Amino acid sequence: MERNLKIYIAGHRGMVGSAIWRALDKKGYHNLIGKTSNDLDLKNQAEVADFFETEKPHVVIDAAAKVGGILANSRYPYQFLMDNMLIQNNLIDASLRNDCEKFIFLGSSCIYPKHAPQPLKEDCLLTSSLEPTNEWYAIAKISGVKACEAIRKQYDKDFISLMPTNLYGSHDNFDLETSHVLPAMLRKFHEAKENGHAPVTLWGSGNPKREFLHVDDLAQAVIFAMENRFQDNLYNVGTGQDLSIKDLALMIQGVTGHKGEIHWDDSKPDGTPRKLMDVTKLSKEGWNAAIPLETGIKETYRWFIENVQNIKELKY
Ligand SMILES: NC(=O)c1ccc[n+]([C@@H]2O[C@H](COP(=O)([O-])OP(=O)(O)OC[C@H]3O[C@@H](n4cnc5c(N)ncnc54)[C@H](OP(=O)(O)O)[C@@H]3O)[C@@H](O)[C@H]2O)c1
Repeated sequence: MERNLKIYIAGHRGMVGSAIWRALDKKGYHNLIGKTSNDLDLKNQAEVADFFETEKPHVVIDAAAKVGGILANSRYPYQFLMDNMLIQNNLIDASLRNDCEKFIFLGSSCIYPKHAPQPLKEDCLLTSSLEPTNEWYAIAKISGVKACEAIRKQYDKDFISLMPTNLYGSHDNFDLETSHVLPAMLRKFHEAKENGHAPVTLWGSGNPKREFLHVDDLAQAVIFAMENRFQDNLYNVGTGQDLSIKDLALMIQGVTGHKGEIHWDDSKPDGTPRKLMDVTKLSKEGWNAAIPLETGIKETYRWFIENVQNIKELKY
């Protein structure tokens, strides 16, 4: 692909968007565009239409979204449904109208039904009900997948959707109130070590199994999808391997050098016993994850240590 291709990364300051920007830059793509939400509110159709008419990007990568945990989803269901639909609809429609060659839509594994068989295959989409706690977000994302599929069918344009598993890496959210399990554990073990190797209490039994993908691996998958035309419209992105939360805790404890005890608070809910993506479809197209979990956690811990001061200043 031409290195001067004009690529617009929506959400380029986020965890995912910034990783994609870094990876594209490293590969020599030098005509990258990014706009903060202050400069361009993607919920505003007229602003988005003007921006596309002026810039006419060849490729659009949609990593912009209103994201959040269970608490935020249950407090603001309308924003999780409507903001996400507005953002993605404006981007998808403007890309179609302005003859964009490639559109990559990013969602998440929450689009799949709560009780779908594991590992989750792409074709279980819309086969039964969603997890109620984040259905607002999931329904918005499903409508984005379907909009890209419809454009692919009707206009034969290369609009595709990638569904990453749980991500971790630099620029993650380390706020204990709202963060995901891996960054929350990293921070807890780090702070307990600093605090004389105090015991660490973790939620649940530690038995559920989860899959984790380094965000730099996801960025490579996005570039691979950009540089190749896939057979189909919807692909999972993951490692295809999971581990128990207990094993994850031991790995993170080892990486941080914490020597204290781990207590499991099994009065707290475990959540679903297993969540693993089937990644056969993307593997058949020729892409596989490359960063081993322990290597990725070490790298993330280094980033955390270097940025902990800024993270605190920003978040609290
Ligand atoms: N993190 C994960 O574990 C994970 C896992 C699977 C899938 N994903 C998917 O990856 C995508 C990105 O997630 P992320 O973790 O990178 O989120 P993030 O760090 O919160 O970044 C989201 C970005 O969206 C932009 N944005 C939000 N509302 C906007 C608006 N109205 N106008 C313009 N920009 C707006 C923000 O821009 P500003 O910074 O300029 O405000 C921000 O940079 C999402 O679709 C998510 O579903 C993430």
